[in-house]
Amino acid sequence: MTDHEHHPQRPRRLRTTAAMRRLVAENRLAPADLVLPVFYRQGLTSAREIPSMPGVFQHDLDSLRAHCAEAVEAGCGGIMVFAVPAERDERGSAATDPEGPLAQAVSVLASDLGDRTVLMADLCLDEFTSHGHCGVVDERSRVDNDATLDTYGRMAVVLGQAGAHVLGTSGMMDGQVGAVRSALDREGLIETSVLAYAAKYASAFYGPFRDAVESALSSDRRTYQQDPANGREGVREALLDIDEGADLVMVKPAGSYLDVVRAVREISPVPVAAYQVSGEYSMIEAAAARGWIDRTALIDESLIAIKRAGADVLCTYYALEYARRQQS
Ligand code: PBG
Repeated sequence: MTDHEHHPQRPRRLRTTAAMRRLVAENRLAPADLVLPVFYRQGLTSAREIPSMPGVFQHDLDSLRAHCAEAVEAGCGGIMVFAVPAERDERGSAATDPEGPLAQAVSVLASDLGDRTVLMADLCLDEFTSHGHCGVVDERSRVDNDATLDTYGRMAVVLGQAGAHVLGTSGMMDGQVGAVRSALDREGLIETSVLAYAAKYASAFYGPFRDAVESALSSDRRTYQQDPANGREGVREALLDIDEGADLVMVKPAGSYLDVVRAVREISPVPVAAYQVSGEYSMIEAAAARGWIDRTALIDESLIAIKRAGADVLCTYYALEYARRQQS
Protein backbone atom coordinates (compact mmCIF):
# COMPACT_ATOMS: atom_id res chain seq x y z
CA MET A 1 0.00 0.00 0.00
CA THR A 2 1.37 3.37 -0.96
CA ASP A 3 1.43 6.36 1.35
CA HIS A 4 -1.11 8.33 -0.53
CA GLU A 5 -3.71 5.66 -0.11
CA HIS A 6 -3.37 6.17 3.69
CA HIS A 7 -3.47 9.91 3.31
CA PRO A 8 -5.84 10.88 0.55
CA GLN A 9 -5.36 14.30 -0.99
CA ARG A 10 -7.90 16.71 0.51
CA PRO A 11 -7.68 20.11 -1.17
CA ARG A 12 -10.85 21.08 0.70
CA ARG A 13 -8.78 21.52 3.88
CA LEU A 14 -7.63 24.87 2.53
CA ARG A 15 -11.24 25.95 2.06
CA THR A 16 -12.56 25.15 5.53
CA THR A 17 -12.87 28.67 6.92
CA ALA A 18 -13.04 32.16 5.52
CA ALA A 19 -9.78 32.97 7.34
CA MET A 20 -8.04 29.99 5.72
CA ARG A 21 -9.34 30.90 2.28
CA ARG A 22 -8.15 34.43 2.78
CA LEU A 23 -4.69 33.27 3.83
CA VAL A 24 -4.14 31.02 0.82
CA ALA A 25 -5.73 33.19 -1.88
CA GLU A 26 -3.36 33.27 -4.87
CA ASN A 27 -4.52 36.68 -6.03
CA ARG A 28 -5.76 39.79 -4.31
CA LEU A 29 -7.25 42.88 -5.74
CA ALA A 30 -6.46 46.19 -4.10
CA PRO A 31 -8.17 49.52 -4.80
CA ALA A 32 -4.72 50.73 -5.88
CA ASP A 33 -4.93 48.33 -8.86
CA LEU A 34 -8.07 50.01 -10.16
CA VAL A 35 -8.58 52.87 -12.56
CA LEU A 36 -11.95 54.65 -12.65
CA PRO A 37 -13.12 55.87 -16.09
CA VAL A 38 -15.05 59.18 -15.85
CA PHE A 39 -17.00 61.25 -18.39
CA TYR A 40 -17.04 65.03 -18.63
CA ARG A 41 -19.78 66.45 -20.87
CA GLN A 42 -19.17 70.02 -21.98
CA GLY A 43 -22.15 72.32 -21.44
CA LEU A 44 -23.92 70.36 -18.71
CA THR A 45 -25.05 72.17 -15.59
CA SER A 46 -25.67 69.02 -13.56
CA ALA A 47 -24.64 65.37 -13.79
CA ARG A 48 -26.73 63.18 -16.10
CA GLU A 49 -27.05 59.43 -15.66
CA ILE A 50 -26.19 57.37 -18.75
CA PRO A 51 -29.35 55.34 -19.51
CA SER A 52 -27.51 52.20 -20.61
CA MET A 53 -25.05 52.42 -17.69
CA PRO A 54 -27.12 52.87 -14.52
CA GLY A 55 -24.95 54.37 -11.79
CA VAL A 56 -22.51 55.98 -14.27
CA PHE A 57 -22.85 59.68 -15.10
CA GLN A 58 -21.87 62.28 -17.63
CA HIS A 59 -20.51 65.01 -15.38
CA ASP A 60 -20.43 68.77 -15.40
CA LEU A 61 -17.15 70.21 -14.18
CA ASP A 62 -18.17 70.52 -10.52
CA SER A 63 -19.62 67.05 -10.20
CA LEU A 64 -16.60 65.64 -12.06
CA ARG A 65 -14.26 67.21 -9.54
CA ALA A 66 -16.27 65.90 -6.60
CA HIS A 67 -16.50 62.41 -8.09
CA CYS A 68 -12.76 62.22 -8.79
CA ALA A 69 -11.92 63.53 -5.32
CA GLU A 70 -14.02 60.72 -3.84
CA ALA A 71 -12.21 58.14 -5.97
CA VAL A 72 -8.84 59.39 -4.77
CA GLU A 73 -10.07 59.49 -1.18
CA ALA A 74 -11.26 55.89 -1.45
CA GLY A 75 -7.84 54.80 -2.68
CA CYS A 76 -8.42 54.13 -6.38
CA GLY A 77 -5.15 53.78 -8.26
CA GLY A 78 -6.02 56.16 -11.05
CA ILE A 79 -8.63 58.04 -13.04
CA MET A 80 -9.20 57.88 -16.80
CA VAL A 81 -10.87 60.97 -18.23
CA PHE A 82 -13.10 61.01 -21.32
CA ALA A 83 -14.74 64.16 -22.62
CA VAL A 84 -17.77 64.82 -24.78
CA PRO A 85 -17.62 68.14 -26.62
CA ALA A 86 -20.64 70.35 -27.22
CA GLU A 87 -19.70 70.60 -30.92
CA ARG A 88 -18.02 68.21 -33.29
CA ASP A 89 -16.43 68.62 -36.68
CA GLU A 90 -14.92 66.54 -39.47
CA ARG A 91 -11.36 66.75 -38.11
CA GLY A 92 -12.16 66.57 -34.40
CA SER A 93 -10.67 70.02 -33.76
CA ALA A 94 -11.79 70.18 -30.12
CA ALA A 95 -9.35 67.35 -29.38
CA THR A 96 -6.29 69.43 -30.16
CA ASP A 97 -7.58 72.67 -28.68
CA PRO A 98 -5.88 73.59 -25.38
CA GLU A 99 -9.22 75.18 -24.42
CA GLY A 100 -11.16 72.09 -25.51
CA PRO A 101 -13.22 70.04 -23.04
CA LEU A 102 -10.75 67.19 -22.45
CA ALA A 103 -7.75 69.47 -21.91
CA GLN A 104 -9.89 71.65 -19.68
CA ALA A 105 -11.12 68.74 -17.54
CA VAL A 106 -7.59 67.35 -17.27
CA SER A 107 -6.11 70.65 -16.18
CA VAL A 108 -8.77 71.25 -13.53
CA LEU A 109 -8.32 67.71 -12.17
CA ALA A 110 -4.54 68.00 -12.32
CA SER A 111 -4.62 71.09 -10.14
CA ASP A 112 -7.18 69.56 -7.74
CA LEU A 113 -5.45 66.22 -7.32
CA GLY A 114 -1.79 66.83 -8.10
CA ASP A 115 0.30 63.70 -7.69
CA ARG A 116 -2.13 62.04 -5.27
CA THR A 117 -3.50 59.96 -8.12
CA VAL A 118 -2.47 58.88 -11.60
CA LEU A 119 -4.42 61.08 -13.97
CA MET A 120 -5.03 59.50 -17.35
CA ALA A 121 -6.64 60.97 -20.45
CA ASP A 122 -8.12 59.12 -23.41
CA LEU A 123 -6.19 59.95 -26.54
CA CYS A 124 -8.50 59.34 -29.47
CA LEU A 125 -10.62 61.38 -31.88
CA ASP A 126 -13.92 59.49 -31.82
CA GLU A 127 -15.63 61.71 -29.26
CA PHE A 128 -14.64 64.77 -31.27
CA THR A 129 -15.32 63.89 -34.90
CA SER A 130 -18.68 64.47 -36.62
CA HIS A 131 -18.40 61.02 -38.29
CA GLY A 132 -17.44 59.29 -35.02
CA HIS A 133 -14.31 57.54 -36.30
CA CYS A 134 -11.18 57.34 -34.17
CA GLY A 135 -9.15 59.13 -36.83
CA VAL A 136 -9.46 61.65 -39.63
CA VAL A 137 -11.04 60.34 -42.84
CA ASP A 138 -10.00 60.82 -46.46
CA GLU A 139 -12.23 61.90 -49.36
CA ARG A 140 -13.51 58.32 -49.69
CA SER A 141 -14.46 58.18 -45.98
CA ARG A 142 -11.64 55.78 -45.11
CA VAL A 143 -9.69 56.40 -41.92
CA ASP A 144 -6.36 57.94 -42.91
CA ASN A 145 -3.82 56.30 -40.59
CA ASP A 146 -0.83 58.56 -41.13
CA ALA A 147 -2.76 61.84 -41.19
CA THR A 148 -4.31 60.75 -37.89
CA LEU A 149 -0.88 60.20 -36.31
CA ASP A 150 -0.06 63.85 -36.78
CA THR A 151 -3.28 64.85 -34.99
CA TYR A 152 -2.63 62.37 -32.16
CA GLY A 153 0.83 63.90 -31.69
CA ARG A 154 -0.67 67.36 -31.28
CA MET A 155 -3.38 66.05 -28.96
CA ALA A 156 -0.73 64.33 -26.83
CA VAL A 157 1.18 67.57 -26.35
CA VAL A 158 -1.99 69.46 -25.39
CA LEU A 159 -3.01 66.79 -22.85
CA GLY A 160 0.52 66.42 -21.49
CA GLN A 161 0.77 70.16 -21.00
CA ALA A 162 -2.66 70.14 -19.33
CA GLY A 163 -1.18 67.85 -16.69
CA ALA A 164 -2.13 64.27 -17.59
CA HIS A 165 0.33 61.75 -16.15
CA VAL A 166 -0.69 59.05 -18.64
CA LEU A 167 -2.17 59.14 -22.13
CA GLY A 168 -4.32 56.22 -23.21
CA THR A 169 -3.83 55.76 -26.93
CA SER A 170 -7.10 54.03 -27.83
CA GLY A 171 -7.45 54.69 -31.55
CA MET A 172 -5.72 51.57 -32.93
CA MET A 173 -3.80 53.44 -35.63
CA ASP A 174 -0.55 51.75 -36.65
CA GLY A 175 2.43 53.63 -35.26
CA GLN A 176 0.39 55.72 -32.80
CA VAL A 177 2.55 54.97 -29.77
CA GLY A 178 5.76 55.98 -31.53
CA ALA A 179 4.14 59.12 -32.96
CA VAL A 180 2.81 60.18 -29.56
CA ARG A 181 6.12 59.40 -27.82
CA SER A 182 8.10 61.48 -30.34
CA ALA A 183 5.69 64.40 -30.12
CA LEU A 184 5.85 64.40 -26.31
CA ASP A 185 9.64 64.14 -26.23
CA ARG A 186 10.03 66.97 -28.75
CA GLU A 187 8.14 69.23 -26.33
CA GLY A 188 10.14 68.08 -23.31
CA LEU A 189 7.22 66.07 -21.91
CA ILE A 190 9.50 63.16 -21.11
CA GLU A 191 7.64 62.15 -17.95
CA THR A 192 4.24 61.84 -19.62
CA SER A 193 3.57 58.09 -19.92
CA VAL A 194 1.80 56.19 -22.65
CA LEU A 195 -0.74 53.48 -21.86
CA ALA A 196 -1.11 51.72 -25.18
CA TYR A 197 -4.47 50.16 -25.91
CA ALA A 198 -2.39 47.52 -27.59
CA ALA A 199 -4.91 44.77 -28.18
CA LYS A 200 -8.23 46.48 -28.69
CA TYR A 201 -10.95 44.41 -30.27
CA ALA A 202 -13.85 45.55 -32.45
CA SER A 203 -16.36 44.67 -29.78
CA ALA A 204 -20.11 44.83 -29.26
CA PHE A 205 -19.26 45.23 -25.56
CA TYR A 206 -18.59 48.94 -26.29
CA GLY A 207 -22.29 49.56 -27.04
CA PRO A 208 -23.19 51.47 -23.85
CA PHE A 209 -20.00 53.58 -24.05
CA ARG A 210 -21.21 54.95 -27.38
CA ASP A 211 -24.24 56.26 -25.46
CA ALA A 212 -21.95 57.65 -22.80
CA VAL A 213 -20.02 59.73 -25.36
CA GLU A 214 -23.02 60.27 -27.65
CA SER A 215 -21.05 58.65 -30.46
CA ALA A 216 -21.89 59.76 -33.97
CA LEU A 217 -20.57 56.55 -35.55
CA SER A 218 -22.89 54.93 -38.07
CA SER A 219 -20.62 52.17 -39.40
CA ASP A 220 -18.07 50.14 -37.43
CA ARG A 221 -14.36 50.16 -36.53
CA ARG A 222 -13.31 46.86 -38.04
CA THR A 223 -10.68 48.32 -40.33
CA TYR A 224 -8.67 49.39 -37.30
CA GLN A 225 -9.83 47.50 -34.19
CA GLN A 226 -9.02 43.80 -34.06
CA ASP A 227 -11.07 40.82 -35.11
CA PRO A 228 -12.31 38.96 -31.98
CA ALA A 229 -11.20 35.73 -33.66
CA ASN A 230 -7.52 36.68 -33.30
CA GLY A 231 -5.50 35.96 -30.18
CA ARG A 232 -1.92 35.81 -31.45
CA GLU A 233 -2.47 39.10 -33.22
CA GLY A 234 -3.08 40.67 -29.81
CA VAL A 235 0.43 39.63 -28.79
CA ARG A 236 1.82 41.10 -32.00
CA GLU A 237 0.09 44.42 -31.34
CA ALA A 238 1.47 44.48 -27.79
CA LEU A 239 5.02 43.72 -28.98
CA LEU A 240 4.85 46.52 -31.55
CA ASP A 241 3.62 49.01 -28.94
CA ILE A 242 6.32 48.00 -26.46
CA ASP A 243 8.88 48.46 -29.22
CA GLU A 244 7.48 51.94 -29.96
CA GLY A 245 7.92 52.91 -26.30
CA ALA A 246 4.65 52.05 -24.54
CA ASP A 247 5.02 52.36 -20.77
CA LEU A 248 2.04 50.08 -20.15
CA VAL A 249 0.02 47.91 -22.53
CA MET A 250 -3.70 47.20 -22.31
CA VAL A 251 -6.08 44.51 -23.50
CA LYS A 252 -9.68 45.51 -24.10
CA PRO A 253 -12.37 44.31 -23.45
CA ALA A 254 -11.25 42.19 -20.51
CA GLY A 255 -13.73 39.48 -19.53
CA SER A 256 -14.09 37.77 -22.90
CA TYR A 257 -10.39 38.22 -23.71
CA LEU A 258 -8.69 36.71 -20.66
CA ASP A 259 -6.64 34.44 -22.91
CA VAL A 260 -5.20 37.53 -24.56
CA VAL A 261 -4.50 39.13 -21.17
CA ARG A 262 -2.58 35.98 -20.18
CA ALA A 263 -0.69 35.77 -23.48
CA VAL A 264 0.31 39.44 -23.35
CA ARG A 265 1.32 39.12 -19.71
CA GLU A 266 3.64 36.27 -20.61
CA ILE A 267 5.63 38.30 -23.14
CA SER A 268 5.39 41.79 -21.65
CA PRO A 269 8.24 43.40 -19.74
CA VAL A 270 5.95 46.38 -18.98
CA PRO A 271 2.84 46.42 -16.77
CA VAL A 272 -0.30 44.96 -18.33
CA ALA A 273 -3.69 46.61 -17.97
CA ALA A 274 -7.13 45.32 -18.90
CA TYR A 275 -10.35 47.27 -19.38
CA GLN A 276 -13.66 45.90 -18.13
CA VAL A 277 -15.73 47.88 -20.62
CA SER A 278 -19.17 49.42 -20.62
CA GLY A 279 -21.04 46.35 -21.90
CA GLU A 280 -19.45 44.15 -19.26
CA TYR A 281 -20.68 46.63 -16.65
CA SER A 282 -24.16 46.99 -18.13
CA MET A 283 -24.73 43.25 -18.41
CA ILE A 284 -24.03 42.83 -14.70
CA GLU A 285 -26.30 45.76 -13.85
CA ALA A 286 -29.13 44.57 -16.10
CA ALA A 287 -29.12 41.03 -14.74
CA ALA A 288 -28.82 42.26 -11.15
CA ALA A 289 -31.74 44.66 -11.61
CA ARG A 290 -33.90 41.66 -12.50
CA GLY A 291 -32.69 39.72 -9.48
CA TRP A 292 -31.08 37.12 -11.75
CA ILE A 293 -27.56 37.25 -10.29
CA ASP A 294 -25.84 38.27 -7.06
CA ARG A 295 -24.52 41.68 -8.06
CA THR A 296 -21.70 42.13 -5.53
CA ALA A 297 -20.46 38.57 -5.88
CA LEU A 298 -20.39 38.91 -9.66
CA ILE A 299 -18.51 42.22 -9.52
CA ASP A 300 -15.85 40.65 -7.32
CA GLU A 301 -15.63 37.49 -9.39
CA SER A 302 -15.40 39.34 -12.69
CA LEU A 303 -12.59 41.54 -11.34
CA ILE A 304 -10.50 38.85 -9.66
CA ALA A 305 -10.73 36.76 -12.84
CA ILE A 306 -9.08 39.60 -14.77
CA LYS A 307 -6.37 39.87 -12.14
CA ARG A 308 -5.83 36.10 -12.15
CA ALA A 309 -5.44 36.18 -15.93
CA GLY A 310 -2.45 38.45 -15.42
CA ALA A 311 -3.56 42.09 -15.38
CA ASP A 312 -1.59 44.42 -13.10
CA VAL A 313 -3.98 47.32 -13.62
CA LEU A 314 -7.76 47.12 -14.14
CA CYS A 315 -9.90 49.86 -15.63
CA THR A 316 -13.43 49.36 -14.37
CA TYR A 317 -16.57 51.39 -13.76
CA TYR A 318 -16.73 49.57 -10.42
CA ALA A 319 -13.42 51.04 -9.18
CA LEU A 320 -14.94 53.50 -6.71
CA GLU A 321 -17.59 51.12 -5.41
CA TYR A 322 -15.01 48.37 -4.93
CA ALA A 323 -12.56 50.70 -3.20
CA ARG A 324 -15.26 51.94 -0.85
CA ARG A 325 -16.29 48.43 0.03
CA GLN A 326 -12.67 47.60 0.98
CA GLN A 327 -12.63 50.61 3.32
CA SER A 328 -15.71 49.60 5.28
C1 PBG B 1 -12.37 55.05 -28.04
C2 PBG B 1 -12.77 54.27 -26.85
C3 PBG B 1 -13.85 53.39 -26.75
C4 PBG B 1 -13.84 52.90 -25.45
C5 PBG B 1 -12.77 53.48 -24.80
N1 PBG B 1 -12.10 54.31 -25.69
C6 PBG B 1 -14.94 53.08 -27.69
C7 PBG B 1 -14.73 52.46 -28.98
O1 PBG B 1 -13.64 52.07 -29.39
O2 PBG B 1 -15.75 52.35 -29.67
C8 PBG B 1 -14.82 51.91 -24.89
C9 PBG B 1 -14.92 51.86 -23.42
C10 PBG B 1 -16.09 51.12 -22.92
O3 PBG B 1 -16.87 50.51 -23.68
O4 PBG B 1 -16.27 51.15 -21.69
N2 PBG B 1 -12.02 56.37 -27.68
